[in-house]
Formats: sequence, structure tokens, C-alpha cells
Amino acid sequence: LQPKPLRGRRVLITAGPTSEPIDPVRVLTNLSSGKMGYAVARAAAEAGADVTLVSGPTALPAPRGVRRVDVATAQQMYDAVMADAPRADVFVAVAAVADWRIKTVSAEKIKKTASGMPPALDFVENPDILAAVARLPGGPYCVGFAAETEQLERHAMAKRERKGIPLLVANRAQDALGADDTTLILFDADGMHPLARQPKLAAARELVAQIARRLP
Ligand code: C5P
Repeated sequence: LQPKPLRGRRVLITAGPTSEPIDPVRVLTNLSSGKMGYAVARAAAEAGADVTLVSGPTALPAPRGVRRVDVATAQQMYDAVMADAPRADVFVAVAAVADWRIKTVSAEKIKKTASGMPPALDFVENPDILAAVARLPGGPYCVGFAAETEQLERHAMAKRERKGIPLLVANRAQDALGADDTTLILFDADGMHPLARQPKLAAARELVAQIARRLP
């Protein structure tokens, strides 16, 4: 018999990359596979939660019993999350959200010019979905993810404070992106709690158990 520590809880999760259009045929995206976020969604559903997964473009099937909302851009992800967040008990932001989008999306395919001059692209910052949810009065218990390439501990602790969230999960970007295994380190008010290197689903199950233990 599996323990169901999240029975009766609503869990909202973001996963995957976002895809920001440049013109009708080109996008700006990143190497997130969505595997970690989908594993968290599956683990939360196994733990008895009512799970909504807001997903950027991935090649993965929705885990059984999980409601998936498909989005492409960071703005669409923001809108889908904010529509659901007031009812959620837990929000886990796993998505690799593009920090910037193209300021003016070209209505037509951008063409090469005879001069060989490349196009100049102007960027604007995307909304920070996790920080916005963390600011909601009476909002869900918020968990962030951070993929760092260096100085993991220092960046992770700073990020947890900056986002105003109780729990931040860090991993090494080089190890985690697209991989099947991961080494997660949990950062909370008490400091750091490393987990073993293991498949993402096993790591997600441990994380979900840790989240359940921390809920009011
Ligand atoms: O500092 P950084 O933005 O890299 O923090 C990563 C965390 O914030 C992840 O949990 C990610 O899902 C979330 N995030 C977000 N919206 C953004 C950028 C990051 O929810 N625009």
C-alpha cells in the first residue's frame, strides 16, 4: 500500500522549456526536456494529489491522472499558472522559463539581406512566474528549481531569498539538462539537504515526500 501524503491537496507544476517566437517560423528556446517536471507531476499524483501540469513544448506523455495544460510562451505559462494558483496548495516551478522574449515578433519570415547584415533583435524580460505566485496573499507553498553551472550553494541560497520561497531545489545544469538521473540539493531555512544521485522519478518521489512533510 502506497502512502498518500498529498491526498486532498491541489498541486500545480510547471515543466519543460518555453518557446518564444521570433517570426512565424523561428523560436527562441532552451534545452529543457521536461523530464524533471513530469517526474514531479507523476510523484505528486502517486502521493494522492490533484495535479495540474502546465507544460511548455516537450516530447513527453502526460503522467496518468495528471491534468496537463499545454503552453508555448512564458506569457502563456504565466497566464495558465495565475489562473490556477489561487486554488493550489502547492506550486512547484520546474520549468526552464525563457528570461527574455523578442520585443516585436515579425509578422513575416525575416529574410537575409544583400548586405549580409544580420537582423537586430530587441528583447524584453518575461514575467517571473514563481516570484509572482510567491507574492500571492494566502497563496500556495512554493518550491523553486535552480540549475546552476557554478557556485551552486551560494547562488541557490541567494535565489531562495530573492524569490521569497520556503524551498529551493538546486542541481548542476551540466548534469541535469536532458539527463535521466539527477543530484538534487534542497535548500530551506535550515540550510542544505543533498539527495543521492538517482533517476529523476526517484528524486521526485523524495522531493514530494519532503514537500508533504513541510505543509501546514
Ligand atoms: O533565478 P531563476 O529565474 O533562474 O530561478 C529559477 C526558478 O524560477 C525555477 O523554479 C523557474 O521555474 C522559475 N522561473 C519562473 N519564471 C521565470 C523564470 C524562472 O517561474 N520567468
